[in-house]
Amino acid sequence: MSNSILVPHLADAMVRVTEVAAIAAQKLAGLGDEKAADQAAVDAMRTAFNSVDFQGRIVIGEGERDEAPMLYIGEEVGTGQGPEIDIALDPLEGTTLTAKAMANALAVLAIAPRGGLLHAPDTYMDKIAIGPGYEKGVIDLDESPADNIKAMAKASGRPVESMTVCVLDRPRHADIIESIRSAGARVSLISDGDVAGVINTTNPDTGIDLYIGQGGAPEGVLAAAALKCVGGQMQGRLFFRNDDERARAKRVGVTELDRKYDLDELASGETVFCATGVTKGGLVDGVVVRPGVTITDTLVMSSADGMVRKIQSRYRTA
Ligand code: FBP
Repeated sequence: MSNSILVPHLADAMVRVTEVAAIAAQKLAGLGDEKAADQAAVDAMRTAFNSVDFQGRIVIGEGERDEAPMLYIGEEVGTGQGPEIDIALDPLEGTTLTAKAMANALAVLAIAPRGGLLHAPDTYMDKIAIGPGYEKGVIDLDESPADNIKAMAKASGRPVESMTVCVLDRPRHADIIESIRSAGARVSLISDGDVAGVINTTNPDTGIDLYIGQGGAPEGVLAAAALKCVGGQMQGRLFFRNDDERARAKRVGVTELDRKYDLDELASGETVFCATGVTKGGLVDGVVVRPGVTITDTLVMSSADGMVRKIQSRYRTA
């Protein structure tokens, strides 16, 4: 057994936190209101933290203090008793997916002892990620998507034609998609949800070998925390569209704005990662509401002992 301060107790508590956020968001699934669904998840998650015995500090949250009344960067949560823990969270990863009752919306968070997660601003990040089993350094954010997929094919002894890359379906990714296809590999497009997109590279059943593209920086740190538990490689570099975003990065302590971060810099400490399904997805099932009972499905992982566990909870409602 490890001498972790995160498992088992804090990990168990975090499962409840993402469960209640998912249940709250699912009540608004399919109603077309992204903001309301997000707010429901935020409210539920914030309340659930109150009873956790830790000195929690949000390092990745809903935004800066002046724009987010709850779960803002720097907010302290928990009872104030117990270990000092940093938290990266996204109460509703996939607001559009939820509003449209589409698959793969999640309530997500990761925790680490203080200082163990990159304080990423709410900007974009260029990301590349693969699952375990490859020698270190096989992928490089600075190489073209075609060269990365060819390097992976060579390392794994598989034909490039058998490989699939997950990419967010955005016009800004046209060159990436073209590069992958020019190498002969396949592209699996997702409309949203790149935390799950990255994690899917760790599960051979998904058929996803590589994740590439630009998505949210907070989601990048969350995905890195997950890979830290289950294994894999990832690199990320913050991407800024304007000076306001550069200023945001400086405010959270980023000094080298164009630095390429490795997995161990995105998530440097011991981590626990939890994701509860809001709507049904490839990673976890969504919240199921039946007469008298609400059922949740959560993926929880720990880097201390490499645990990956699925937890189905049944909450009696009558
Ligand atoms: P939301 O939950 O905020 O809707 O984010 C979903 C998401 O798809 C993330 O998974 C991803 O990192 C980001 O949005 C991509 O941003 P954009 O939609 O601006 O391309």
